[in-house]
Amino acid sequence: MRRLGVLLALAALAGCSPKQSSPVAAAARFNTDIPINEVMAHVMDPAADQFWAGMGTSYTVEGERDLSPKSEAEWKRVEDGAATVVLATNSLMLPGYARAPVADWNRHAKDVADVAIRAKAAVEEKDLAEMKVISEELDHACEACHKQFSPASAKPFTAIIPPPPRRN
Ligand code: HEC
Repeated sequence: MRRLGVLLALAALAGCSPKQSSPVAAAARFNTDIPINEVMAHVMDPAADQFWAGMGTSYTVEGERDLSPKSEAEWKRVEDGAATVVLATNSLMLPGYARAPVADWNRHAKDVADVAIRAKAAVEEKDLAEMKVISEELDHACEACHKQFSPASAKPFTAIIPPPPRRN
């Protein structure tokens, strides 16, 4: 009987107390339904590719082709890629995606974000030489996480500019 009284008192208190939780935290319902390998395949990798596609040279039988952006729309596309990589790293750090040891995981995500922020700035400056340097750094930053957390996804570093085709 006494216990019931206490419970009723608690219930009354709970009912009257103002909401104390942070409105931001209470409103946030992050969606992590897409598994991490698909986040990589559909968000991270295409975004990085969009940045990587903005430089280099393709070699075909017709000869060499400069792949650098030619119009404002093409420059924007390359910058969009870098910006998307930055934002995607935030998602990687969400509970539901982050893997233990979380400090290492988050450090790799931040390393990728730091490189991608510089990538975006270099695109804004249309600094192709800097973009080429950064594109290798970006590849290494991605691979550092793969080496620790997904050895199966880690690939040996591949040169951005492929060698010309062999002529026999
Ligand atoms: C914080 C860690 C982390 C970072 C940073 C990261 N990845 Fe990944 N990535 C993973 C993990 C973990 C997997 C394997 C997922 C699994 O276990 O199935 C993966 C898998 C992949 C795959 C294979 C996906 C598939 O189809 O299975 C690709 C491609 C990929 N990552 C690209 C990238 C690129 C490009 C970047 C950088 C721009 C990047 N990743 C940055 C953790 C990371």
